[in-house]
Amino acid sequence: MDVVDIAPLVRGAYLERLGVPVVLRQLPGADEPEPELAVIPVEGLRAPGADWAMAMVEVEVLDQLPAALAVAQLAEKLLVTVGGETFGFAVGTVGAPTPLPHGKDAAASAAAARARVVEGKVAVVTGGAQGFGAEIVRGLVSSGAFVYIADLNGDGAAALAAELGPQTAPITVNVADEGSVRAMAETIAATTGGLDLVVSNAGIVRAGSVLEQDLAAFQLTTDINYTAFFLIAKHLGGLLAAQRRTAPAWTTDIIQINSKSGLVGSNKNGAYAGSKFGGIGLVQSFALELVEHGIKVNAICPGNFYDGPLWSDPDRGLFVQYLRSGKVPGATTVDEVRAFYEAKVPLRRGTYGSDVMRAIYYIVEQEYETGQAIPVTGGQVMLSS
Ligand SMILES: NC(=O)c1ccc[n+]([C@@H]2O[C@H](COP(=O)([O-])OP(=O)(O)OC[C@H]3O[C@@H](n4cnc5c(N)ncnc54)[C@H](O)[C@@H]3O)[C@@H](O)[C@H]2O)c1
Repeated sequence: MDVVDIAPLVRGAYLERLGVPVVLRQLPGADEPEPELAVIPVEGLRAPGADWAMAMVEVEVLDQLPAALAVAQLAEKLLVTVGGETFGFAVGTVGAPTPLPHGKDAAASAAAARARVVEGKVAVVTGGAQGFGAEIVRGLVSSGAFVYIADLNGDGAAALAAELGPQTAPITVNVADEGSVRAMAETIAATTGGLDLVVSNAGIVRAGSVLEQDLAAFQLTTDINYTAFFLIAKHLGGLLAAQRRTAPAWTTDIIQINSKSGLVGSNKNGAYAGSKFGGIGLVQSFALELVEHGIKVNAICPGNFYDGPLWSDPDRGLFVQYLRSGKVPGATTVDEVRAFYEAKVPLRRGTYGSDVMRAIYYIVEQEYETGQAIPVTGGQVMLSS
């Protein structure tokens, strides 16, 4: 038995319990010197009035340790005995970290630690009425931004705006129609004078074999996923560039919500993957051009949003469609279909809105990057060049 087998399990137990990063120091043997590393005691691990607190965990074999740690009392010092061999640890923190939000709840989307990244800024989210777009709207609003919810589904945009209140405004727009996008730019100019963040998110999927797909379905996909990004960058980028002329230190962002299918091909889904690959070409090219206007242009390439309506709608979602068509051999329930797809992801789950939000906060905060395509795929797609 070695400390390398035990210490990561013990540290993990503290991380899980405390929600903040800790340092876990192995206690020296009786005749060894104390290590130099100074740590700050962690609140709640020391009994009131005590100089230190110690707890003990004892198991017979290493495999039993995780379960034992999950229910153990954790103190400032912990003695771990495995198969009769005892290891001592002391836990503390370096600095005073506060818990960061995790997962997919509202706190994670609000990025509490970095809320100021978008606080007070004006943003537009196309396709903001549902799905990833609605998640992005909620995340930005939670972080203090004013958000235009721009969608072909004007009723959906208005309903979300009514729910979220005066920090939002609905705009009915068809992003594939130049007149409609130009009108949106005018509305924004008239309402808030300009904006700081454009999230080009509206998109559709029309899957189909190259041997069978109608040209109309291919073209619709291309119009909304590819051509519309040109229109958004042209008209809203125009607002940003104009604003920069009198605000030469003010940096702004255009972010395209792309897809993992913009990085690798997608079987019987060529219209979608092609439109997304093309989107990255536009992102790189616009980034090179718009840098002189202080506009960063980047793409985010999420994996599948299994919680969203595209996959989970009970009547028309892909899970229920794949169940009915027998696409997943042996699956008899929607949950089994979902498990099949989750197993394809190294991190074993679909993408959350909060995962995409973290990439957005990163891009906005990062002043030294443009023209990038950032995967948010749970490891399903990895960059190779
Ligand atoms: N859902 C996923 O698994 C997934 C995975 C990776 C990337 N994406 C990308 O994320 C984005 C959002 O996808 P989603 O699954 O949340 O979609 P969704 O179908 O749930 O929502 C799309 C929204 O866009 C709106 N929209 C459609 N056409 C429009 C148009 N012409 N003009 C304005 N608005 C329009 C719709 O009304 C809807 O509100 C898309 O670009 C998609 O390619 C989705």
